[in-house]
Amino acid sequence: MSIGSAQLTALVELISSSVREVIAAYSDARQDSPLLNLLDEGPLEIPATTPPNVTKARQIIEAACAQLCATIAQSGDCIVNYTKSACLQVTVDMKIFDLLLNKPKSLAVEEMAKLSGINAGKLGQVLRFLVTKHVYREVQPNVYTNNTLSMKLLSSDPVCFSIFVHYQPSYSTYMWEALVDEKYSSSYDPSQTAFCKVNGAPFFEYYKKCRFSSAMIGWRDITDRGLLPKMYDWQSLVHNAVVCDVSGSNGHVALDLLKEYLKLKIVVQDLEDLQTRWSELKELPDMIQQARTAFIPIDFFKDAPVKDCNIYYIHNILHDWLDESCVKILQNVKLSMKPTSRILILCFVANHQEALARDGDDLAPEPLLPNYGNGRIQQYNLDVNLMICFKSKERTLKEFIDIGWVLTRYSSCLSNVIEICILL
Ligand SMILES: C[S@@+](CC[C@H](N)C(=O)[O-])C[C@H]1O[C@@H](n2cnc3c(N)ncnc32)[C@H](O)[C@@H]1O
Repeated sequence: MSIGSAQLTALVELISSSVREVIAAYSDARQDSPLLNLLDEGPLEIPATTPPNVTKARQIIEAACAQLCATIAQSGDCIVNYTKSACLQVTVDMKIFDLLLNKPKSLAVEEMAKLSGINAGKLGQVLRFLVTKHVYREVQPNVYTNNTLSMKLLSSDPVCFSIFVHYQPSYSTYMWEALVDEKYSSSYDPSQTAFCKVNGAPFFEYYKKCRFSSAMIGWRDITDRGLLPKMYDWQSLVHNAVVCDVSGSNGHVALDLLKEYLKLKIVVQDLEDLQTRWSELKELPDMIQQARTAFIPIDFFKDAPVKDCNIYYIHNILHDWLDESCVKILQNVKLSMKPTSRILILCFVANHQEALARDGDDLAPEPLLPNYGNGRIQQYNLDVNLMICFKSKERTLKEFIDIGWVLTRYSSCLSNVIEICILL
């Protein structure tokens, strides 16, 4: 058999065996196997309740399907792919998914055009494209209904905010302009990014009052919802141990922990503007009354966080900043630490294919790319997005250590390729 035939056959076998594993897991969980027409989520669609073998099987399927298509498709077909996030933004902004939800079966594009004020012909083109990408279902010509994917884009689901914030096409398409403009390209000043070129203000200033904190809830849902309570030995902490969620945004991540570990107290700290968003979380009043949680404003470049906490938890923060800013943030945290305090950092760790193959970490089976390729694409999407928005990046483990960190523990959590390290 030629090398090409052997690789194609191996990819198909990986897909078959992994699909069998997914079907078996759904059957064990008495859940219907995945079907795009289903509108409800079951436990196997939520990161925290998905067994690691299912997550891994999914990643292998996604990686192998993408690699198979990239190998077999005509190169031009495969490489030209530029429209999806622009179309999604139209439909999310228009709240088309909400319009469909209120109709028991489906809605004609003319009706949607009347409700939204967008030209029916043009809207029809956008929807026809998205249906071809499996977002919505077309039940008759130009008549649409929701499906599994479009349900994630309802305005009541925070995932839709990730479309605006993480994958907004307007600033993504300015990456090239920012790379070739000398003023922007040579500088690492976070106020000279592609994002600023389009929006006229740095990221956090621009999103101060609006969607960013909701987008973080959506991002949590996609990546690590419910996983924090499982990622650390919280039981080992003393009764009334205090966890400081440094820049915890709405406090949505801390909430998972509060619910599961009644002996913990959590202080959420973030910029002052976030306090209102935090106070809107509906589960909070009881916990505030029991003095189990509070919000204390911070600017982590100027202030040290609350003193003497047991854990300082830093989630999705350091990748927004250049090394010197990360050092400043961590120095301020260090000022507040008692000898037994620990810093817990959750973030993606970027990997180069060659380094992975050499170090033999969690390697994808051959002939997949060692880093699981499309199966773990979100972290590489985010990496590029960080460059566009902040001139920053996801770091490799070596880059973390080069900042001057001492890792006392490092674990690669299979479920979501999220890594924990603890800094002394
Ligand atoms: C990517 S979000 C992560 C939020 C949260 N930890 C999570 O994982 O959902 C970054 C957070 O940093 C906060 N932030 C930005 N600049 C800050 C500053 N100077 N001081 C404190 N927090 C800041 C933002 O308000 C935002 O909530």
